[in-house]
Amino acid sequence: MSKFAVSFEDKVFKNLDGDLDWSIEGYKERGGYDRLAEVLAKDPKEIINSLKPCGMRGRGGAGFPTAIKWSFMPDPTDEKPNYLVCNADEGEPGTCKDRDILRNDPHTLVEGLIIGCHCLQAKTAYVYIRGEYHIESVRMQEAIDQAYEAGYLKEGICDIYIHMGAGAYICGEETALLESLEGKRGQPRLKPPFPANFGLYGCPTTVNNVETIAQMGVIAKKGLDWWTQFGSENNHGTKVFSVSGAINSPKNIEVALGVPLKELIEDFCGGVKGGWDNLQAVIPGGSSTKLLTPEEAETAIMDFDSLKQFNSSLGTAGVVVISKDENLLDIMLRISRFYKHETCGQCTPCREGIPWVYRDLEKLINGKGSIEDIDKLVKLTHKIEGKTICAFADGAVWPVQGLIAKFKPLLEEKLK
Ligand SMILES: Cc1cc2nc3c(=O)[nH]c(=O)nc-3n(C[C@H](O)[C@H](O)[C@H](O)COP(=O)(O)O)c2cc1C
Ligand code: SF4
Repeated sequence: MSKFAVSFEDKVFKNLDGDLDWSIEGYKERGGYDRLAEVLAKDPKEIINSLKPCGMRGRGGAGFPTAIKWSFMPDPTDEKPNYLVCNADEGEPGTCKDRDILRNDPHTLVEGLIIGCHCLQAKTAYVYIRGEYHIESVRMQEAIDQAYEAGYLKEGICDIYIHMGAGAYICGEETALLESLEGKRGQPRLKPPFPANFGLYGCPTTVNNVETIAQMGVIAKKGLDWWTQFGSENNHGTKVFSVSGAINSPKNIEVALGVPLKELIEDFCGGVKGGWDNLQAVIPGGSSTKLLTPEEAETAIMDFDSLKQFNSSLGTAGVVVISKDENLLDIMLRISRFYKHETCGQCTPCREGIPWVYRDLEKLINGKGSIEDIDKLVKLTHKIEGKTICAFADGAVWPVQGLIAKFKPLLEEKLK
């Protein structure tokens, strides 16, 4: 067995593929809700401090250490209660892990939310689910109802509410999500102030990804030694990878963080369609992360730090395998069109610049322009990057920068 494989016992998500009973009975048979009372009897701040060395980094994309983020929350007051908000918007193309957690293992999230609320001294948690996840939201609501019935959730002590999004990618950005949750147009807020001080309804709020919250709950129960046996310093634990594209066995799979990309593709997901030599490129962490070449994919390690070596990142761990049978330029143009469509329009460099990037890329792919226009496009992306309210614009230009940095000859070929 690969050293990156995780045994059934050690898996956080024991029913990720939905083969087992998702309900509270099934979850409890698998050890769910055991030792919950023990954790809830502990002092919240002590739990957070004890979790700091666990090396758990947020699974929503940026990889910020979760226990440190939790420690930013002040004590609640009568006027300003604390909130925990679960980000289940999952809009990043290539990513579908939260979906399987919601529909197949919803009680891992419910239990994580109960523990999270205790640690953050919050009496209320909201789960913001993307609008298209109807079945998942129904399942999640059923799980919440079961937890109330079983007495794990108690009105006024710990409540969980579901809120459905309406289809905008930007509502996954945590402050846009909070605006949307408040019933306003989902547009990112200027930071500071950060949500820990001024979040939902102006109250202290922590926003975490579905996987993060579920995992934190299990770490609080099972302890650091269990968690840190997986991965390496600063990149501990298990991780759900969504592996899709030109792959023989596409799936969501929980393995140890730090798994080599080639092993993930070849050993865990049945290999590249047509064989490894048919590999053209890999998107390692959702559509906004920069492409890897086959040579890079050969040695890439899938954790938050190692992919920097290739000027890319782990992002949401949504791995998209692109074979030589596909038109890489068309794929990247489609991704660029997605971002053009999803800008919220607040910042000029993003509102004007992202459609401009798309148009220029489209022209080049259609063989219009000159070789110099490729470099002009790169310069344009640098004029956008880092100059906006939120990271959307960065995530919109990175795929284009990655394409040109690593696959420029494909564009040059079009211009001959
Ligand atoms: C444009 C944009 C879209 C995002 N979409 C998501 C999303 O769908 N789900 C998610 O968990 N985080 C998303 N994020 C990251 C969130 O802003 C936030 O960092 C995350 O929910 C924090 O969770 P974590 O600390 O558990 O990683 C997005 C960020 C940006 C800039
Ligand atoms: S960067 Fe784009 S998506 Fe983000 S706030 Fe500015 S305009 Fe909106």
